[in-house]
Amino acid sequence: MRRSLRSLLVATAAASLVVPLWAGTAANAEPPGFSHADKDTLRNQAPRDLAIGSAVWAQRDLLSYDPAAPTELQRVLGAQFSSVTPENDMKWDAIHPAPDVYDFASADALVAFAEANGQEVRGHTLLWHSQNPAWVTAASSTWTCDDARAVLEDHIRTVVGHFKGEIYEWDVANEIFQDNWDAGGVRLRTEANPFLRACADDPVALIGDAFRWAHEADPDAVLFLNDYNAEGINEKTDAYYDLAQRLLADGVPLSGFGAQGHLSLLYGFDTSIQANFERFAALGLKVAVTEADVRIPLLDGETGPTPAQVAEQAARYDAMLVACLNVPACSSFTVWGFPDANSWVPAVFPGEGWATIFEDDFSPKPAFDAMLASLRDATPGISPRRG
Ligand code: XIL
Repeated sequence: MRRSLRSLLVATAAASLVVPLWAGTAANAEPPGFSHADKDTLRNQAPRDLAIGSAVWAQRDLLSYDPAAPTELQRVLGAQFSSVTPENDMKWDAIHPAPDVYDFASADALVAFAEANGQEVRGHTLLWHSQNPAWVTAASSTWTCDDARAVLEDHIRTVVGHFKGEIYEWDVANEIFQDNWDAGGVRLRTEANPFLRACADDPVALIGDAFRWAHEADPDAVLFLNDYNAEGINEKTDAYYDLAQRLLADGVPLSGFGAQGHLSLLYGFDTSIQANFERFAALGLKVAVTEADVRIPLLDGETGPTPAQVAEQAARYDAMLVACLNVPACSSFTVWGFPDANSWVPAVFPGEGWATIFEDDFSPKPAFDAMLASLRDATPGISPRRG
């Protein structure tokens, strides 16, 4: 059985003998680290059918988790979020460091944290061109398509099988399309992705089988395509829309489309997110915002953003969340870690930062306040969403 808050509650209601670890009297029937004194949190205000998540790097932040003495990050993570995504811990280089070696230690720590805090887990990711181990990069130079298929099938069956029943959504294929500024334009990454490269004659067949292997290993998980620059309607999401239709026509168990939501104030804001989600939902897919952050260009010597930048950041986080709230098929909204000191942004986008919804002292930013207000407004039975 899927060990999630929802299934625990159902199980507890159905059979009083099934008692979650954190159950107790009515007053404390919540997991440790879960601030039951404060119901005004993202997770508590969200509609019941929308998970509110954060990425967390378990290897760095969860290995020493003690439910009786959580760090401030762990306390806020447990209190505010109903879903967690391993920021790095389920990627190939972390979980499959050598051909015959799987290392589940930090990913297992994340799943244990989620269970202790009544949270669900988003799996990330199974087929990607980045953060592959050196052995994959080396071996792939001589792979035939059959070689690549065998390696990918073993990986997907082993990893998805290990977490069977623990993961509600899996990012099966991540960033498999190039951008329109890449050489060759928007097309499948048959150069950068070693698996797609080995199967460049028919990459769609490989992608379809990746979903089939994942579905066989965990039939209950919702299986996602996931990418950046995939929020609005654009050339890249048009390509995903075509691919999704083709996979579905082939009977592939594709069941979700994820927009990462990595935005920057250096660029304009695309207001077609809801329309984009609606077209994927019309195919019968779940949709999600999977990695939201909004980075801000910071001038040399500046300690923080201007009030206008702070307000614009809040507006963009909120607009992504509202698009999700307005589309009933939107099943999860995840921010890509916090606080700013933990963000991937400064290392990858020099000169940009302040991208998360919590300051380094864990005080909430206006972006957090705006999201909380929208979640309050969207409580099932009020508007616009029913749980
Ligand atoms: C990032 C992590 O946040 C970093 O810690 C890591 O060094 C690089 O990867 N798209 C994705 C995520 O799908 O996996 C990436 O995460 C951010 C971009």
